[in-house]
This record gives sequence, structure tokens and C-alpha cells, in this order.
Amino acid sequence: MALQDSSAPQSPLLHLLVHEIDYGTPRSKAEQTVTLTVDGQPVTVPEGTSIMRAAMETGIEIPKLCATDMLEAFGSCRLCLVEIEGRAGTPASCTTPVAEGMVVRTKSERLDRLRQGVMELYVSDHPVDSLDPAKHPDVDLLETAEEVGLKEVRYGFDAARHRNPGIDDSNPYFSFDPAKCIVCSRCVRACEEVQGTFALTVSGRGFDSIIAAGMDEKFIESECVSCGACVQACPTGSLLEKAVIEKGKPEWSAITTCAYCGVGCAFKAEMRGEEVVRMVPYKDGKANRGHSCVKGRFAWGYANHRERILKPMLREKITEPWREVSWQEAIDRVASEFKRIQAKYGGGSIGGITSSRCTDEETFLVQKLVRAAFGNNNVDTCARVCHSPTGYGLKTTFGTSAGTQDFDSVEAMDVGIIIGANPTDAHPVFASRLKKRLRAGAKLIVIDPRRIDLVRMPHVEAAYHLPILPGTNVAILTALAHVIVTEGLVDEKFVRERCDWDAFQDWAAFVAHESNSPDAVGKICGVPAETIRAAARLYATGGNGAIYYGLGITEHSQGSTAVMALANLAMATGNIGRPGVGVNPLRGQNNVQGSCDMGSFPHELSGYRHIADDATRAMFEALWHKPIDSEPGLRIPNMLDASVEGSFKGIYIQGEDILQSDPDTHHVAAGLAAMECVVVQDLFLNETANYAHVFLPGSTFLEKDGTFINAERRIQLVRKVMAPKNGYEDWEITCLISEAMGYPMHYNHPSEIMDEIAQLTPTFAGVSFQRIEELGSIQWPCNEKAPEGTPVMHINGFVRGKGKFVVTEYIPTDEKTGPRFPLLLTTGRILSQYNVGAQTRRTANVIWHHEDRLEIHPHDAEQRGIGDGDWVKLASRAGETTLRALITERVAPGVVYTTFHYPDTQANVVTTEYSDWATNCPEYKVTAVQVSPSNGPTEWQEEYHELARKSRRIASTVEAAE
Ligand code: SF4
Ligand code: SF4
Ligand code: FES
Repeated sequence: MALQDSSAPQSPLLHLLVHEIDYGTPRSKAEQTVTLTVDGQPVTVPEGTSIMRAAMETGIEIPKLCATDMLEAFGSCRLCLVEIEGRAGTPASCTTPVAEGMVVRTKSERLDRLRQGVMELYVSDHPVDSLDPAKHPDVDLLETAEEVGLKEVRYGFDAARHRNPGIDDSNPYFSFDPAKCIVCSRCVRACEEVQGTFALTVSGRGFDSIIAAGMDEKFIESECVSCGACVQACPTGSLLEKAVIEKGKPEWSAITTCAYCGVGCAFKAEMRGEEVVRMVPYKDGKANRGHSCVKGRFAWGYANHRERILKPMLREKITEPWREVSWQEAIDRVASEFKRIQAKYGGGSIGGITSSRCTDEETFLVQKLVRAAFGNNNVDTCARVCHSPTGYGLKTTFGTSAGTQDFDSVEAMDVGIIIGANPTDAHPVFASRLKKRLRAGAKLIVIDPRRIDLVRMPHVEAAYHLPILPGTNVAILTALAHVIVTEGLVDEKFVRERCDWDAFQDWAAFVAHESNSPDAVGKICGVPAETIRAAARLYATGGNGAIYYGLGITEHSQGSTAVMALANLAMATGNIGRPGVGVNPLRGQNNVQGSCDMGSFPHELSGYRHIADDATRAMFEALWHKPIDSEPGLRIPNMLDASVEGSFKGIYIQGEDILQSDPDTHHVAAGLAAMECVVVQDLFLNETANYAHVFLPGSTFLEKDGTFINAERRIQLVRKVMAPKNGYEDWEITCLISEAMGYPMHYNHPSEIMDEIAQLTPTFAGVSFQRIEELGSIQWPCNEKAPEGTPVMHINGFVRGKGKFVVTEYIPTDEKTGPRFPLLLTTGRILSQYNVGAQTRRTANVIWHHEDRLEIHPHDAEQRGIGDGDWVKLASRAGETTLRALITERVAPGVVYTTFHYPDTQANVVTTEYSDWATNCPEYKVTAVQVSPSNGPTEWQEEYHELARKSRRIASTVEAAE
């Protein structure tokens, strides 16, 4: 591959603006069909379809304002009138369902006249001075006026009749101009039906009616969560993205995938030239079905942030200034340093970390670099610190290291268990789909130490909340199993047919033991025995039971055990292998599933095949022309330990900030500081880069082609909409390093890397970029047996053959409270920020969350003399930090909680070295701490910030020189 030293833009990509058909009303799911005639054309549609939708399906568009296929029909604008033979009047086509033999006319002089009359009234109440859409390009209403043939407005254009309190531009991303509003209620309904927040209402009557946020407040002061659903629904431009107002209407667009969480929302990146104007959720996106959250929809501005590093940089020592260098010099330095280290300390003295933020193709190449060019298996991924127990637990019980369902499955769910997850903050689009199902009558059991939003929020109330003490997941899950087994609620037919019966019997005998009864366990978990019994009965007998879980399950010393306990529950109740059921990990990062699938773990090649398997290794060796070590390499914590001990000296870290995201920050810092060559590839000088010798600038998801895999195993395309500002896509940088190390890799495009993945990985055998283009997305396994992928797994049998019950003995964590550290700390995320905040902190999202706070119960705060907003010291046996207190009853007495989005706080300074017994996933969710009043930052924070300040000061000097 030829090195280039400039980020010269490639020729602009030319696409048309993707136009999605709006069918006016949602698709009916009825199986029965009816046939009718629309304007002389016969059409057959499912029962319950609206006339408007039936017409659209034959290509006949009926004018509409209040209808959209994202929302149930409302029938308020009266623009979509039609004539039906044998019926009097002109019914609204959006609210009138089709009937067998119906004969519909959508065009007639009478209908034209009526529609023009309605439209004339709307336009007269609109702030325009003519009917020419070209003069008012942001007023979609005029396009509809043109469509219905409106030629004049007899009542003038003064728009003075309705209430207009003025533009509300309090939200950083969109504004609301009441003057343009026709009170069609699409926004109100979008907020209710799609997002489920109920932030908007129509306030007042007649000409006084106005859309109001909250209690007639500014948007920013209301409960609005800035998902953008109302903006998308608005047909008049009254609610509009500020970027569209500033930059103008988009000219072209491409479908791509959100780079934040594991929901994997599909978006249209709408562009002017090479500039993003807006990201609009894509209706055909099978994960999000046209919805989004504030992060994917609006928080993409970090791609252009002034702190982004675009040139490679070097320094001899971490205390020295950074020096900008050419790509050639930087790559040569990486290769020469890694070779020198290997010559001096041995082949196993270097390694790499892949990123769950990067594409599958990039991740695959990093592990290939380590195995083929470095010649060892010292590769790991950030999934180590989040979902590695999911991989272990689900593979052991079901045979596949992944969730069992697609997100559509939630629509068939009758009872949901949410455990150790907070979807409204961390997986918001899934949360909206879940809330919709709950509003339709499904029941919910929340098992979480905190009173998360889903416990009670507008129109949603969990049937049971089990507020367990952090660290007692396995105990409570086994107690649920105890009730199911001892009360005869096991689906014996399913278990006998589908599972290993001997293993089931061992397990059933174990869970039935009195020590696992709700009475015994309730005392350990802090949950009344009756609540445990009631929740178990509901899950086992309430119809389709689905389990959704997050890092509150995995990030424990018994993380893998808890995952297996969930799998046991699903098997015992027969809740596996069909829509509406299953065990579903809510993946944190956009591509955490993919980074695991791609062979990022030191003991596994792609598709979760063990490195010791001779046949698998032989396949890779034949294609890569390199021997592969049969011994597993070092995990991240082992690399850091080995570094402190002196045997591990160099690391290539692509797109990860282990200093901020990994536990026991002091130990991570010591490990990094002891290495001789730390290479960080990222968008910004992250916290890990404070310990780096080489910094390689990375590219954003907007600047590269590739694929991400979401929590549903769904492989989706990421499409390049602009040239990489740093000159290279991340996969190209890995290729450059590999070539310089003496192992050239030859790819012209990421699609060729996917072809190699498909060739080497049986579960991906049918996957290619072309196939993904054709199908929109593919859920693996995709191969000869499943050429279009696999939405729901284990339908006719488990991947491992018989489902395996595993005895899940509760072993309390060694991390115990005591007189010095009497409180339990648990951690999590907030909606507006993402993980270590590297991206979201560089967007206007900081308006909602500009610092990490420590949630503490009023009782614990009072005992310590702590007031709301006071600085407090948070100390554990690992370290201490300071942050400000937030007094709330969301946490129970004895439990405190914080987020870890800000490096100023470094919450992981206090987390300990304890980890999951099977996978080393850190025990983030349980740390014994003490909280006390403080005057401000600790000495450690001051020292650390001095180092970070030096690093950043040098970076800003570089910036200033540019
Ligand atoms: S942005 Fe979302 S939450 Fe806010 S008012 Fe609009 S639909 Fe509701
Ligand atoms: S829910 Fe997740 S994938 Fe969807 S827009 Fe939000 S951050 Fe992106
Ligand atoms: S589109 Fe049918 S009444 Fe508004």
C-alpha cells in the first residue's frame, strides 16, 4: 500500500437524496387479505389496512398532512378525503379501513375542491407571502398546496390568527417556530407513540391551540429527551433541525449505521457536498424502524471538533512534547520499535487491542496483524470489560456466544425481565420499542439496585421491581429458579425434548435446595420473599417471557455464572426458540458483538473457534501463509500485569481508552508507563494517549466503509460519506503497520476483508457487502442453511445440540462492605453521554450532563453531612476521587452510583482488581466505598491532570501552529 501524506479529499461521492415512501399509516399485520379497487385498479392488502395505504401500495398518492406511516392514523387535517361507491360523504382515507369489494375514487372535482378549501385555510394561517414553494424552500406545506392544485388564498397570508409565543430555540439541535405550526399533532403523537416520552401536548383551543412542551415550558426545560421524533414527524418545518436552517437543505444522502450503542440504528446521512447536514433515522432500518436517540440523531459534531488530531505524532518519552511527523515516519517508528522490542524481550512482548468502536473489517485486521505479523495471540478487545461473560455463558448453555432474538421480537413479548440494564439511558431506541409493547399490555419485571426509569414512568409501570443489593444477581436468579422448580412451573416437555435431561435434573435438585428459596435469598438480596415468588410466577406463566440484560449482569465476579443463570431460567420455562422470548444481551458499544465475532479474544479465532483447534488454525494458516501459535495469548489485564513485571513492552491500541474505561486506573497507568512503545490510534488525544509514544490519528464512521454488528447479530453497512480527514481509514493504517513489520496485507476495499472473513468463518459464509446491500442487513449465522440470516436462534434445537443447564452456586464477591468502606458503589451511563465521553463530551450534549455526579440516598447523605451538589470524596481500597453529590431516592440506602463519562472524575480509580472468574471481566458493579465531604479534587487527580494538561497543552500548541 502506498503511503500518502495529505488528507486530500477523494472525488465526491454522488448519491441521490434517499427518498423513503410514506405510506400514510402503519402496515397491518393481519394475515387475512381483502381486495378492493382504487381508481379502477384492483389491490389486495391485509385486513385493517387504511384506504390511504392501499392506494399508496398501487402507487396512488393521496394528499395528506396529519398522517404518516410511523404513527397510527389520527384523521385531523381532512386533506385525504376520498369517495367510496355506495357510501355517503367523503371519508378520510387515513382512518377508513379497506373492505372486500370496496370501490374507491381518490380524484374528482369535488375532492379537489374540498382539499383546496382545507389547504387554503391552512396556508392562510401560515407565515408566507406567496404560494411559490421555491420562495419558501423550508415550508413543505406549500408543496402539498401545489399538489392539491391550490392557486390562490382568499384570506390573506398574515398568519395572525393563532397563538404565537415566538420561536423556541432552547434545544441545542432543533427549534420550534409556532408560526409555521398547523397543530396537526404529528409531533405530539410521535413523542407518545414512537418515543414514549409524552413531553408534548396541544394546549388551548381553536385559534389558541398550540403545541406545548412539558407544562408550557421551553423544550430544554421539559421532559423532552431530544430524540428528534417530533422533528422528523413535523410536515411544516415548524420543528426543524438548526443545522438545516444554518446549512440549507441536504443535496444527497447515504444509508449508514450509528456509531454509538449496540442498538445499531440505521440513518440517512444527509449531506451538502462533504458536509453532514443531518442524520435522519431510516425507516427500513430493521433495528430502529425509523427511530433514534439524541446521540445518533444529533451528536455527530465531534467528527469536526477542533481537538481532533489529524496528523501522526511521536515523542521519545511520555513527558516530552508531541512532535508532528509524516505518516511514513510514524509507521516506520511503530515497526522499528516493535521489532526492536521483540528482538530484545521475545516475540510475546508486544500485543494489540481491537476496538468495539471500529468496523468488523478493522477489528479483523488488528487481530490478523497480531497473530500473523507479531506472531503471537496477545490480542484482546474492550469486550473484555463488558460482555465477555455473555460470550462464555451463552456458549456454554446454548452453544452460541450471542443473543437469541431480533428487536422485532419484543413485539411478541408478554412478560419481560430487565436485569442489570437501564435501556432508557443506554439503549434508548430499544427502550422505546419496549415501552410501546408495555403500553399495549405486556408486563415487566425490573431487577436492579436502582429505581431505573422503567420502574415507573408515564404510561409504563413495572409489575415488580426487585431492588437487589449489588453483587447478588446469581442469588436472586437462582431463587427465581427455585420457585419455578418447586412450584411445578417447569416446561417439562420443552426441557425433555430440547435440553440435556441429566444436567437439568442436577440443576433442578440444586435450585430446589432450601438455601436457594426466596426466604433464604431474600435476606441476602434485600428483596421480600413474596416479591421474588410473584416475579418468578409471572415470568413462568405469563406467556412469552423475554430476558434483556446489560452490564449489571456481566461486570461482576460471577458475571458468567449470572449469564448462565438467565439461560437456565429461559430453558426451564421453554422461553427460547421463537419470537417474543429468549435471552438478549443489550450490547453497549456499536460493534461489541462484531469485535468478539471477529476473533479479538486471545484464545479464539473468528466465529469463536478455539485457537488450539488444529483444523481451524490450519484454515487460517493456509490463507495467511503464516503459522499461528496454538497457545492463547494475554488478556488485557495480563498484558498490564506482564508490563509491570517487565516482560511485556509494546502495545498497539486501536480506538480504545483503556486508562479511562478499564478498572483500577492506577494499575492501568503503571502498566502503560512501564512499556517502551505505546501506540494509540484514535480521534482525540484520549487519556491513554497520555502514556503513548506514537499517536496515529483515526477516522470517524463517516469517513470509512465497513460493517458493524449490533446486539441482534445484525450486520449492517457503514458507508463513507466523506474522505478521511486524517488521510486514511483505520483499516488502512493497520495494513501500513503490518507491511512495515514485514507482513504485507493486500486489500483494495473493506469488502475484500469481509470476503476473507466469510471464507474463514462458517457463521459468516454467506455474508458479503453485496449481499448486505441486497438484504439491507443480515443477522448471522448466514450460510447455506440460512442464506438470508437468522433472526431468531435455536428454533428447532440448540446450536450445541441439547441445551445445557449449569448449576449456579452463589459465591459472594470478596469485595465486602465494612466499617472503613460501608457503602456499595455501582456504575452506569446516562442518556446524553456515551461511555468515556470522548465523542459526546465534544458535542452540545454536554448541556444535559457536564459532569459525573455521585447519586446517594438522602439517609446516607444526611448521616455524612452531605448536601445536594456538595463536593464529596469517594474512596475505596483501590483509590479515591472527588465529585459532586446528587441526593436521590433512585438509589437505596447503602448504595451509591455514578457515571464514568468524564476524565476529571476517573470513577475507575476506585474500582478494584476483582473480576469474573471465567473471563476476567472486571467487577465494576460492586465496589465497597466510603463517601465523605470534600473540598475538591484529590492529590492524585491534581497530579494526573498535570500530566494530561501537558499532553493537551502540546496538542494545542500543534493546533495553534496549524
Ligand atoms: S424530541 Fe423526542 S422527546 Fe422531545 S418532544 Fe420531540 S419526540 Fe418528544
Ligand atoms: S439508540 Fe444507540 S444506535 Fe440508536 S441512535 Fe441512539 S446511540 Fe445510536
Ligand atoms: S391525512 Fe388523513 S385526515 Fe390528515
